[in-house]
Amino acid sequence: MKTNRTFTMIKPDAVANGHIGGILDHITKAGFKIVALKYTALTPAKAGEFYAVHSERGFFADLVDFMSSGPIVAAILEKENAVADFRTVIGATDPAKAEPGTIRNLFAKSIEANAVHGSDSDENAEIEGNFFFSAFERY
Ligand code: PPS
Repeated sequence: MKTNRTFTMIKPDAVANGHIGGILDHITKAGFKIVALKYTALTPAKAGEFYAVHSERGFFADLVDFMSSGPIVAAILEKENAVADFRTVIGATDPAKAEPGTIRNLFAKSIEANAVHGSDSDENAEIEGNFFFSAFERY
């Protein structure tokens, strides 16, 4: 079902480097409305649960370690065609390949420390939003 919503996290590298404000500004200027927002942190168990779909991949342990290494910001964003448009706004997974002006091009340092997450489908956006937010924590 198309919801016009997507889910994002500002990852530990971008939080540690002081980019929360810059990234949220970039997101809202790109036309997304923030309908839920939370400053929190993932335990290793919670990070493993969130990224379970990647559990067979060689980088899984590094991904879990990194995503539980410090605070993150979780958000639900609303815009027409939110999932696909947000993937365009964040750029390629590897910041070295991200288009100029994309969030990863501007704020990320490496394929691991790549500043932001964006859901890859409407279904996953719903699941991931529900992972972090109750019904009372979203508009
Ligand atoms: S995507 O967005 O799912 O198409 O990207 P993908 O390349 O499949 O990567 C899935 C998530 O794993 C992260 N990743 C890595 N982490 C650590 N080390 C390496 N080498 C690595 N390669 C990919 C990538 O940032 C994706 O995280 P999310 O949070 O989904 O962006």
